[in-house]
Amino acid sequence: MAMDTLRDLYIEELKDLYSAENQIVKALPKMAKKASDDELRDAFEEHLKVTKEQVKRLETIFGDLERSPRGKRCAGMAGLIEEGSDMMKEKAEPEVMDAALISAAQRVEHYEIAAYGTVRNFARRLGLTQHSKLLQQTLDEEGETDKRLTSIAESHVNPAASRAG
Ligand SMILES: [Fe+2]
Repeated sequence: MAMDTLRDLYIEELKDLYSAENQIVKALPKMAKKASDDELRDAFEEHLKVTKEQVKRLETIFGDLERSPRGKRCAGMAGLIEEGSDMMKEKAEPEVMDAALISAAQRVEHYEIAAYGTVRNFARRLGLTQHSKLLQQTLDEEGETDKRLTSIAESHVNPAASRAG
C-alpha cells in the first residue's frame, strides 16, 4: 500500500505489530514447555496471557480505524523467533537452556519496546489520544516483562548456568 501520510505508516506499523504479537502467542507455549526453572516458566505463561490482551488492544485500535489488522507478516519477529527455536533444538544443560531462553525472550521484548514506542509517538502526533494510551499500556507491560526476565536471569538462572557442565 502507499505510504503517503504518517497515518498510512502508523497503520502499516500496527499491522506489523499485530503479526508480531500473533507469532509470539504461538512461540510462548513452546518456550514455557522448554523452561526448567519454575519462575521462568511462570513468567512465560503469564506473558502469554498478557500478550493475548495486547492482541485485543490492537484489534480495538484497528476497529476504531475501521481497518483490518491482517495482511502483513512481521519478518523481524519471524527472524527472532527462528533464532530462538534453533537455539531450543541445541543439546544443552537445563540451566544453560534457561539462560538461552531468557536471551531469546529479551530480544523479542526489545523489538516490541522499540516498535510500541514508535507507534505510541505516531498516535500522539496524529492526535489519537485513546490509541496512545492503549499503546502505552502495552509498552509498559513489555518493559515490565523485560525487567522481570533480567531479574530471573541475574537472581538464579545465570548463577546456576555458570555452575553447569
Ligand atoms: Fe507483546
